[in-house]
Amino acid sequence: MELPNGKESTQELLDAQTHIWNHIFKFINTMSLQCAIQLDISNIIHKHGKPMTLIELTNALPISKANSQYISRLMHLLVHLDFFIKVNISDDDPKEGYWLTPASHLLLKDKPLSILPFVQVIVDPILIEPWHYLSKWLASDHHQTPFEMAHGQTFWEQAERVPRLNDLFNEAMASDAGLVNLVLLRNSKQLFGGFESLMDVGGGTGATARAISEAFPELKCTVLDLPLVVVGLKGIKNLSFLEGDMFDAIPHADVVLLKWILHDWNDEASVRILKKCKDAISNNKDKGGKVIIIDMILNNHVGGDKVIEDQLFYDMAMMAYVDGKERTEEEWAKLFFDAGFSSYKIALELGVRSLIEVYP
Ligand SMILES: C[S@@+](CC[C@H](N)C(=O)[O-])C[C@H]1O[C@@H](n2cnc3c(N)ncnc32)[C@H](O)[C@@H]1O
Repeated sequence: MELPNGKESTQELLDAQTHIWNHIFKFINTMSLQCAIQLDISNIIHKHGKPMTLIELTNALPISKANSQYISRLMHLLVHLDFFIKVNISDDDPKEGYWLTPASHLLLKDKPLSILPFVQVIVDPILIEPWHYLSKWLASDHHQTPFEMAHGQTFWEQAERVPRLNDLFNEAMASDAGLVNLVLLRNSKQLFGGFESLMDVGGGTGATARAISEAFPELKCTVLDLPLVVVGLKGIKNLSFLEGDMFDAIPHADVVLLKWILHDWNDEASVRILKKCKDAISNNKDKGGKVIIIDMILNNHVGGDKVIEDQLFYDMAMMAYVDGKERTEEEWAKLFFDAGFSSYKIALELGVRSLIEVYP
């Protein structure tokens, strides 16, 4: 490599070094966030009810006296990452304390909008391990995914064998419903009004279907999922649970919901699922049923750099865990037409995801 001879090219190399350092250490963001969750920092500050000084916070944390000196450094990074802010304790008290940001509010325990269980499953060693196999997996053709190479089984087989993973994953999925339900219910008339039945295919433990069933007491809602997910779950009123396999059969409904399903599967499997969905809604010739898909649309340029990066992360994650993928609008359209649907509409934006309605 030639050595740079001008001031500008030296600067370029220094910037490149900064760029590399920034990326090789990005896992420290994840690990520091995990540490904050394990120490329960958000909940401790929330319970305190007002900003906490460093000493108050340090005294409240489950840490040794000898290591309390390190908390300011952890908080320094977490403030930089917008998980906490430093503000005056009150109008009368100019001392600074740590307080919550919108992100740490979403990480509080047992709150309806909390996505804490989702963070916990993603940072669990079972889901971290496959990342060590990425290049080995690319070089081999014996395994469907890096997950399978790391654990000797597919994700779904492992969830069936390891109750801890099944529970963590189901809780994580249920925790995703909070924010999505807010948007769905705000637009509920447009989405569900006038229909008599809804089938939430792969609906997990029913967090989304439950909210829809409560908002529409006349809508008969069913959650179809694998036996290990819905076993023992009791329906109430207009909500019921059904054990089944979406690749075998999807019972009739006016509306089929596929929330975070198709990104788990490759194109061939996705078309098979969509064909079953089309059969399920096709009995309703008069009203015209529909399939509602909640998933990402790559490159849709809504939301800026963080959204794009999140979508790229998810695309890699679906490759590493389950032989799935995120899709561009063109790729989605191809799936819909290959499965025999006639048209679709992107009906809502849900942050990083979108809601697509697909018509027979
Ligand atoms: C990514 S999760 C999404 C769960 C839920 N829809 C949500 O968004 O919270 C995928 C779901 O598909 C279910 N699933 C996987 N294979 C299935 C199959 N063959 N038949 C029915 N459900 C299946 C899983 O058990 C899981 O609940």
